[in-house]
Amino acid sequence: MKDTTKYKEPLSEKERRLVWAMTRSVLETDQFKHKRHGQKSKSHWNNFKRIINFMVWGTKITGLYKKGYANVQNIQINEYELKFDNLPSHFDGFRLLHLSDLHIDATPELAHSILHVVDQVDFDMAVLTGDYRQDNSGSFTQILKPLKDVAALLQKEFTPLAVLGNHDTYLMTEYEKELKIRFLINETFQIERNGQLITFSGSDDPFSYYTDAALESFTDKPGFKIALVHTSEMADIASEKGYSLYLCGHTHGGQVCLPSGKALISHQKEGEDFVKGFWKYGQMTGYTSSGCGVSGVPLRFNCPGEITVFTLRKSLPHLSS
Ligand SMILES: [Fe+2]
Repeated sequence: MKDTTKYKEPLSEKERRLVWAMTRSVLETDQFKHKRHGQKSKSHWNNFKRIINFMVWGTKITGLYKKGYANVQNIQINEYELKFDNLPSHFDGFRLLHLSDLHIDATPELAHSILHVVDQVDFDMAVLTGDYRQDNSGSFTQILKPLKDVAALLQKEFTPLAVLGNHDTYLMTEYEKELKIRFLINETFQIERNGQLITFSGSDDPFSYYTDAALESFTDKPGFKIALVHTSEMADIASEKGYSLYLCGHTHGGQVCLPSGKALISHQKEGEDFVKGFWKYGQMTGYTSSGCGVSGVPLRFNCPGEITVFTLRKSLPHLSS
């Protein structure tokens, strides 16, 4: 019998990006957010804007606006040492800078504040986990100049890697050569030191623009692997596939928090553990950055913005007696 099965050639990198860009462009004009487990109306954002307007009015009449605005410019540098059994030895001491949620046009001073803190830290490589502009639609060219200034400080031993967030448009990826940042669009990228590798996998934003192509970001292959995603929503997949570290943002740590640090609104449903800082999913270590910038309202309370430096250390194998 004649075999009628058609063999499909895999898409080239260029074709894969083109298919993604066409799909993303449609999703960006859709009235729904596309999530892993179904669609959700974007009207939630309009309701949120009403709450924001009320909040701004409230802080202005109570005199808190000035304080909250000043807090936005006060970005902290948080440094942590992380130990992993499976870290390749040539990466022992590797310093990874994590920036998230720059929203770099949110206030006129923000770009300068971000430049100021990034300039103070030593690192070997930078990763960015999305949300580069303030709004989630409309113009984005206003962020190119300040983003380019930040990107200039991020050029180290390895090219900075980035993923898109729910405030970003697919059009931003056209500027990756100019910015000298490589966007990971549902794909994997490896860096090498003396023949040893670290694998980075980055998926497109799963909060508003999820497609099944995001699942292809993560690899089953062994090795030391780091996932870069805008939100914590892909943590189960990355953990299942043996990733050691998962870096995300999106929540801004709550941005406006109670004095206890509890977020009033976090824009995620994965649970309180994922709102800010470290969490675990199986064997995988995750970190949700509070972000550098702000969105919605140019205020922060009880939740400073941050840039984060992780020093990766190879832990010694456990000795059994
Ligand atoms: Fe954000």
